[in-house]
Amino acid sequence: MKKIAVKASKPYEVLIEQGLLSECGKLIAKTTGAGFAAIITDDIVDRLYSEKVISSLEAQGIKTVKYVFKNGESSKSSDNLNKIYNFLAENGITRTDLLIALGGGVTGDITGYAAATYLRGVRFVQIPTTLLAQIDSSVGGKTAINLPCGKNLVGAFKQPELVICDPLTLRTLSDETISDGMAEAIKYGMIRSRELFDIIASRNLKNYFEIIDDVIYRCVSIKRDIVENDEFDTGERMLLNFGHTIGHAIESFFNYETYTHGKAVASGMHIMTEQAVKHGDCSSEALDALDSVLRSYDLPLTTEASVTELVPLCSKDKKCESTSINAIVCSDIGKASIRKMPFSDFKAYMES
Ligand code: GLY
Repeated sequence: MKKIAVKASKPYEVLIEQGLLSECGKLIAKTTGAGFAAIITDDIVDRLYSEKVISSLEAQGIKTVKYVFKNGESSKSSDNLNKIYNFLAENGITRTDLLIALGGGVTGDITGYAAATYLRGVRFVQIPTTLLAQIDSSVGGKTAINLPCGKNLVGAFKQPELVICDPLTLRTLSDETISDGMAEAIKYGMIRSRELFDIIASRNLKNYFEIIDDVIYRCVSIKRDIVENDEFDTGERMLLNFGHTIGHAIESFFNYETYTHGKAVASGMHIMTEQAVKHGDCSSEALDALDSVLRSYDLPLTTEASVTELVPLCSKDKKCESTSINAIVCSDIGKASIRKMPFSDFKAYMES
C-alpha cells in the first residue's frame, strides 16, 4: 500500500492500493476510532460500492446509516445540503461520529462542506471513486456547494481524517470520465514534473490502467507538497489553476453542458501554452508534447469559442480579482509560474 502523509493544519494520510475498498472498515476504525458513520453517496456509486463499504465497516463494529442522492453536478446544491443536514439530525449524528464521502468530486465537496458546518464541524473520511477525485478534489481540504449564479461559491477549508483511494473503482468509469481525470493528471505534470508527464505520455486512454497507481501517487504527492506550503490558497496553490482560468470560461460559455471540467481544462492548458509560445515564454517543443498527450487521452486542444469571447468570462471567475488576474504560465514541461497582471494585460496577452 502506498501512503502519503499530508501535514496540513490537521495532518492525515492518503492511502492508495487496488482493492482497498474492502479494507476500509479496518483503516477507518484504526484512524478514527468512530463507532457510527453516515455514508453520503450518489445513486450510481451506491449501486456499485455501498454494500462492500458497509460490510467492511460493520465487520469492525462501526454502525452505519446511508444518504443517497441523484448523481450529477446539480446535486451540489443548497437544497441537497439541507437534506443532508436533516438526515444527519434525524439519525442522531454527533461530533464523535463520522461522515464518509463515497464517490466523485460532487460527493466529496458537498459531504466535506456538510462536515465543516454540521454541529460546527464533524470529522469526515474521503473514499474517492473517480480519477479526478482521487488525484485532486479529495486531497487538500477544499469543500463547497454551488449557487445558481456560480460554482463553488459557498465553501470551507476542511481537511479529512483519511483518504482511501482504490484504483479498481476506476474500472467502472466511462472513457470520458477517465479523460476528464487525466486532464488534471497532465496538469500536475505540466506544472511540476516532467517525469510524471512522460509516464502519462507513455500510455493512452486504452492502456492507462497499467500506470494508474503510480500516476495517482505522483499527483497526490505534488498536491501534498503544494497544500503543505499554501493550505489556504493565497500563493503557490494557485499553480493548480493552470488551464482553469480559460477552462472555467469555456465551461461557462457553453453553459456547463458541452464541455466537462477536464475537457475545458485541457483546452485551457493548450490555449494558454499556445499564447506562451507566441510570447516567447515557452518552447514550441513543450507545446507539441502537450498537444500529443492531450490527443492520446482524447482531450480537446481548443474550443469553438474564440479567445475574444472567452477572455471577458475570465473576469467573472472567482479566482480573478476585479482589476488583476493571476495567470498561470508554463515555461516548460514541469515548470510553471504565477503571473499577477492587470486584467487589461491578460487580455492583450491572450488576444495577441
Ligand atoms: N483543485 C484545486 C485546489 O485544490 O486548490
